[in-house]
Amino acid sequence: MAALHGAVFPEDPWDEANFAALFQQNGVSGLLDPRGGFVLFWLVADEASVITLGVVPKRQGIGRALLAAGLQQMREAGAVMIYLEVAATNMAARKLYEGFGFQQTGLRKKYYTDGDDAVTMSLGL
Ligand SMILES: CC(C)(COP(=O)(O)OP(=O)(O)OC[C@H]1O[C@@H](n2cnc3c(N)ncnc32)[C@H](O)[C@@H]1OP(=O)(O)O)[C@@H](O)C(=O)NCCC(=O)NCCS
Repeated sequence: MAALHGAVFPEDPWDEANFAALFQQNGVSGLLDPRGGFVLFWLVADEASVITLGVVPKRQGIGRALLAAGLQQMREAGAVMIYLEVAATNMAARKLYEGFGFQQTGLRKKYYTDGDDAVTMSLGL
């Protein structure tokens, strides 16, 4: 996951220690697609959130497959809502989430360090 994260997010790579620390936390789980992709979730009571999602190679259905499997896993674990935030300019991710029925719930101006706004989205499970 650390290797993939570095490939997907070279500007902010998370190393193995970062992942190890994350997985120490209650409610954190993830899926790894051997074709090249990862998704991490955080579940607290009946509310889940997407921590991060990334794939290499892109546009081969890996993101959709990971999200579908992850949403099912969160549903089975008792989540009734799932939340995420995504850069407003990240149309690939926004389209992916919209395809699953996620709806925009808000906009956080200049949320990211590069000045990009964050769109907040949620989906009832
Ligand atoms: C967002 C991301 C995970 C999508 O994964 P992917 O495996 O490339 O996407 P898929 O091939 O499964 O595509 C599923 C749907 O997502 C949308 N989508 C994916 N890439 C897209 C693009 N470049 N432009 C527009 N829509 C796109 C489409 O709706 C697509 O369905 P379609 O192929 O039937 O049109 C991937 O682009 C990625 O890793 N991006 C960098 C990291 C990132 O932005 N993570 C999300 C942070 S919140």
